Amino acid sequence: MLVLGIESSCDETAAAVVRDGQDLLSHVVWSQVEVHAAFGGVVPELASRAHAEKIGPVIEKAISDAGCKPKDLDGIAVTRGPGLVGSLLVGIHAAKGLAAGLNVPFVGVNHLECHLYSIVLEEPVPACPMAALLVSGGHSLLAHIPRWGEYELYAETRDDAAGEAYDKVAKLLGLSYPGGPVIDSLAGAFDGKPVPFPKARMKDGSSDLSFSGLKTAVLYHVRGLNGDPTQEDIQSIAAGFQNAVVGMLVDGAMDLCSERGCSRLILVGGVACNKALREALREEGREKGVELFVPSPSLCTDNAAMIAALGTMLLSRGESSDWEMDAEPNWALGDRE
Ligand code: KG4
Ligand code: ZN
Repeated sequence: MLVLGIESSCDETAAAVVRDGQDLLSHVVWSQVEVHAAFGGVVPELASRAHAEKIGPVIEKAISDAGCKPKDLDGIAVTRGPGLVGSLLVGIHAAKGLAAGLNVPFVGVNHLECHLYSIVLEEPVPACPMAALLVSGGHSLLAHIPRWGEYELYAETRDDAAGEAYDKVAKLLGLSYPGGPVIDSLAGAFDGKPVPFPKARMKDGSSDLSFSGLKTAVLYHVRGLNGDPTQEDIQSIAAGFQNAVVGMLVDGAMDLCSERGCSRLILVGGVACNKALREALREEGREKGVELFVPSPSLCTDNAAMIAALGTMLLSRGESSDWEMDAEPNWALGDRE
């Protein structure tokens, strides 16, 4: 079964062709980073326009890179939500147009579920049940997955997503967008003393995550420097901020694994590219008998291979969408419609 995946929920225009749900034949991602860099964050209006411009060429390239023809496709999968409505609609209309022209079924999928499902694209594929830490620019959550399609939310962020916190702190430090990779490499190269920012915990005893207090602590620390931060200041702040974020995520993931008795943990989403987070989870997991699974970086950040993979599972079960299908900008993980 040959399925084309289309992703346009935020600032990546992506298309990929996947055979039988696992075999990645092509994988094209056009990043809009340069469109939004000057603004330090994604500008929705500019994002939809850039998707409209690039969606055709990106789909065409994915099909030709896969060495196939449009008529070889058995189905189309497209991100239906969550995401920016104008951006989602560009992908959805492209999918509907192609499905109509080729007379094949199409299915709208949940972007968050696709991030989780990205773990099936590489060997070894962990078996359910498992625990999941999904950390991206738009979402941060911990969930228990008894089987694919069933997601028990354990914790989510009360304010910023982890990637969003990275991006905002980077902006505050005068670093480039997106901030995650920049802070990751600055912190990794620093061998001085990191600023000891505290790890936040919910006062009500909930397992939920919150990054706004940490962001404010960074802001006050920068203000307290009485002048522009030096390169050394920036590195010690970046390293301290990263230590706190990683500590919070590792604590939450290990609590989830021990409460649900999980011996497998998957780490997915853009922030899963973070080296310190991967190492800390692997290390802590080894001590606690939890095996960590992380996709390659190009499958952690937004991509269409994960869209095609989940779409294949749904289409092969006979689940498809109809022509009335609309975008679901706030579609929560686990909600069927
Ligand atoms: O999954 P993704 O591509 O898009 C969303 O669905 O949001 O994630 C993008 C986010 C950005 O906030 C970016 O700063 C963050 O992932 N990110 C990182 C790293 N690479 C990307 N955060 C921390 N460390 C990294 N190495
Ligand atoms: Zn994403």
